[in-house]
Amino acid sequence: MSNMEPPHPLPPHVLIFPLPCQGHVNSMLNLAQLLSLAGLHVTFLNSDHNHDLLVRYTDIQARFACYPGFRFTTIPDGLPLEHPRNGESFMELFDAVKSITMPLFREMLVSGQFGLVNCIIADGIMGYTIDIANELGIPIFHFRTISACSFWAYFSIPQLIEAGEIPIKGNEDMDALVKSVPGMETFLRSRDLPSFCRCSDVFNPGLQLVMNETRQSPRARGLILNTFENLEGPILSQIRTQCPTTYTIGPLHAHLKSRLAKHATNTLQRSSNSSSLWEVDRSCMTWLDQQSSQSVVYISFGSIAVLTREQVIEFWYGVVNSKKNFLWVRRPDSIAGNKEGESEDIPVELVEGTKERGYMVGWAPQEEVLAHKAVGGFLTHSGWNSTLESIVAGVPMVCWPYFADQQVNSRFVSEAWKLGVDMKDLCDRKIVEQMLNDLMVERRTEFVKSTAEMAGMSRRSVNEGGSSYSNFDRLIEDIRLMSM
Ligand code: UDX
Repeated sequence: MSNMEPPHPLPPHVLIFPLPCQGHVNSMLNLAQLLSLAGLHVTFLNSDHNHDLLVRYTDIQARFACYPGFRFTTIPDGLPLEHPRNGESFMELFDAVKSITMPLFREMLVSGQFGLVNCIIADGIMGYTIDIANELGIPIFHFRTISACSFWAYFSIPQLIEAGEIPIKGNEDMDALVKSVPGMETFLRSRDLPSFCRCSDVFNPGLQLVMNETRQSPRARGLILNTFENLEGPILSQIRTQCPTTYTIGPLHAHLKSRLAKHATNTLQRSSNSSSLWEVDRSCMTWLDQQSSQSVVYISFGSIAVLTREQVIEFWYGVVNSKKNFLWVRRPDSIAGNKEGESEDIPVELVEGTKERGYMVGWAPQEEVLAHKAVGGFLTHSGWNSTLESIVAGVPMVCWPYFADQQVNSRFVSEAWKLGVDMKDLCDRKIVEQMLNDLMVERRTEFVKSTAEMAGMSRRSVNEGGSSYSNFDRLIEDIRLMSM
């Protein structure tokens, strides 16, 4: 190179900052890996707590070791070590992150600890990150781990309040159609609104949080969503009236696989994509290998849900009475009031009745489980990652939404996309049995067809020429342009 030539510019440096929870960290790690594959430099900001778990339970360092421009940095999440960090105390995590982590984050940026940052991709549930970015003159994108339909329901909360549709007045109003979420007027009932709408007054902290943070996104340079156009096109058109620069780049786990297959060297292909905060029990894969095709119902309520003992027993009876084979994830901290290792006091006849047909683990390799040929149905809490993983695998769902965005997702799964059935607020052994029978027997043909079609569309969206694939290229181009 002659001395007259300008130096080759460094790739843009992107700082990624997720809310420190499982469903947020894994999808944003997939995004981080995609950006790294595209040649960008990436710093991933993990909570100390989650980073320790990732290092303990996954080969996360190996997964990113081959990207020279990638590094992890950590920050406290503001909670004491022994805090459960689950659904029973979820607001405490948000409060701690806002009051303790955010000022530290600002200090780290100001003191140059991340080096020169060309752009931030922050979890949009921490909408306030935009104020710090604006103050320091750093372009910021918001990434949401939720569906477009849930984002739009959160975004519409001010109109819902203005129209008097929330707070929901009483049980008798739960089945009334909701008029103030544009695009959902014909099928969204009060009971399908985000769980925080079930409050006695509009000052409810959960409601205020999701409303205020979501309303920040139009101020960002762009909104990035883990979804695809064929799934949520009509709702995306609504969102683009408020956030015109919206990039749909999902399903991210499938998108990553598609790009890895094109780019990957052997080293890249060998490392797993696991980002579990619990120890994965792979013994269930051997058990699945012994089951016949599409005979097994996979049961998992995600990373945050906490069930009462009564609910667990209703599910148990329902599953046993349905006579279906099942693989059940029983997360160690998933029963209310139970400490890790404590007995759950489940009736003996239930435990005995399931030995033949059931297998249980504390945490499963879920993506692999859903892709296994033995799995024919998913009893799920309708978390967005789980929903997308089920869609890509073509597995129909029985939905039992627990909280937050999950109520909206489950309605879309059953009514808009026809990919399963929605138990919603019912947790009764007869309903569980009936819904499992609907999914696995009575309405099987219908669901096999609809899920296969949607799985095909999801895969096409992340292959070359597909909408998510092209949108991701556009995102990279936009980041490069704003970093010049
Ligand atoms: C919550 C929200 O409801 C969700 O919509 C939001 O996007 C993130 O936070 P969570 O309970 O974490 O959800 O559920 P989900 O989004 O489905 O994520 C759970 C993740 O854990 C999935 O990627 C799933 O594959 C993984 N998982 C779950 C495992 O790897 N093993 C298991 O045994 C269970």
